Amino acid sequence: MNMEIEKATLITRKKYDRNAKFYNLMELPLELFWYARWRRRLFRKVRGPRVLEVGVGTGKNLRYYRQEYWATGVDLSEEMMFKAKPLAKSKGIPLALMDAQQLAFGDSIFDTVVATFVFCSVPDPIKGLQEIQRVLKPEGQALLIEHVLPENALMAWTFNTLDPLTSALSGVHINRKTSDNIHKAGFKLIREENLLFTIFKMFFAEPIKKEKEAQ
Ligand SMILES: C[S@@+](CC[C@H](N)C(=O)[O-])C[C@H]1O[C@@H](n2cnc3c(N)ncnc32)[C@H](O)[C@@H]1O
Repeated sequence: MNMEIEKATLITRKKYDRNAKFYNLMELPLELFWYARWRRRLFRKVRGPRVLEVGVGTGKNLRYYRQEYWATGVDLSEEMMFKAKPLAKSKGIPLALMDAQQLAFGDSIFDTVVATFVFCSVPDPIKGLQEIQRVLKPEGQALLIEHVLPENALMAWTFNTLDPLTSALSGVHINRKTSDNIHKAGFKLIREENLLFTIFKMFFAEPIKKEKEAQ
């Protein structure tokens, strides 16, 4: 990892560590209006048995994990995961401090990798997505919910203009082109659903190694 990405990763970790106390409260309106519904929808598509959640945060998805999954959650921020610990423990889901850009798992282990609202803050999102592809089985799948750069030109201009501010304050980039990043990371993008205008999207992607191995 180059020095610039390492530095940005450290800064992101510090921002989430600092904001962890208020995170659930700040997100509550969004959670009530939209996020919880989107999470349920995403989890209907999860296939086990081996499931990895990258950027598990305060554990808002943990309630949707079925007992039969062998699930693991990782995150960059100890403080965010601290909030997830009680529910993770009661569901038998191990949590580990880990950077999405350097996953400490072997190749081709997981059936599904889940990440919700994570790739807006990973400093090198393509590297993170490549790591997800590496740890997925050839027949595995990545399921993501992300906010992205909107397609509308005026909104895109606004998001691009505000991005330096949001990223400086919270570590969150509001102008990521996640579908391009998914392609650049070498995934096959199976489906992209608009959840709220073109700002929030759900992505279903499969590793291309599936196709390579079939040849
Ligand atoms: C906006 S929060 C979302 C948390 C959770 N996924 C949710 O849906 O509520 C983003 C999370 O991604 C984590 N994160 C950011 N960069 C990361 C990285 N490089 N590796 C692992 N986790 C990361 C942050 O620590 C934070 O917990």
